[in-house]
Amino acid sequence: MELWVLFTAAVIAVTILVRHFFFNQVEQEVKEEPIEEELIENKDDPYTLEELSKFDGKDGRPIYMAVSGTVFNVSSKPEMYGPEGAYGLFSGKEATRGLAKSSLKVEDLQPFGSKEGLTAGQLRTLADWEEYYKERYQIMGHVVESK
Ligand code: HEM
Repeated sequence: MELWVLFTAAVIAVTILVRHFFFNQVEQEVKEEPIEEELIENKDDPYTLEELSKFDGKDGRPIYMAVSGTVFNVSSKPEMYGPEGAYGLFSGKEATRGLAKSSLKVEDLQPFGSKEGLTAGQLRTLADWEEYYKERYQIMGHVVESK
C-alpha cells in the first residue's frame, strides 16, 4: 500500500516538473519573437539609382532592390538575388517594371521605376509584389532622382 502511494506521488511530481519545464520553454519562445522583430527596423534613407546599383551582392556586398520606389534589403536570400540567382537581375536595381510585367528580361526593367504604359493588370501585379516585399524584407529607404 505504502509503495503504491509513493509511486503515485512520484508520477505526479514528475508530471508537474515536465509540464513546468515545457510551458516555460513555450513562454520563452513566445516572448522572444517580438524582440527579434523589433531589432529589424525600417529606415527611410534616400538612394539614387547609381547608389542603389552598388548593393548588388557582388564581393560580399549587401543586396538591395527597389519596388515602386521603395528600397528593400533582400540580402537574406543570396541564392535568389545574388549574382548567380534566378532573380539576380533585380539586385541593385529598380525592379518595378520587371515585377509588373512578370519579366526577367533586363531590358524590361527600363525606364527604371517608371509606371508609364503599364496595364491595370500589371499595376495590380506590381501592388501584390510590393505587399510581398513589405511583409518579408527590411525597408532601407526610397529612390530619389538626385541628391
Ligand atoms: C518558370 C517560371 C518560374 C518559376 C518556376 C518560378 C519559381 C519560383 C519559386 C519556386 C519561388 C519561391 C521560392 C521561395 O520562396 O523559396 C519564386 C519566387 C519569386 N519569383 Fe519566380 N518563378 C518563375 C518565374 C518568375 C518570373 C517570370 C518572375 C518575374 C517577375 C519571377 C519573380 C519571382 C520573385 C520576385 C520571387 C520572390 C523571391 C523572394 O521570395 O524574395 N518568377 N519563383
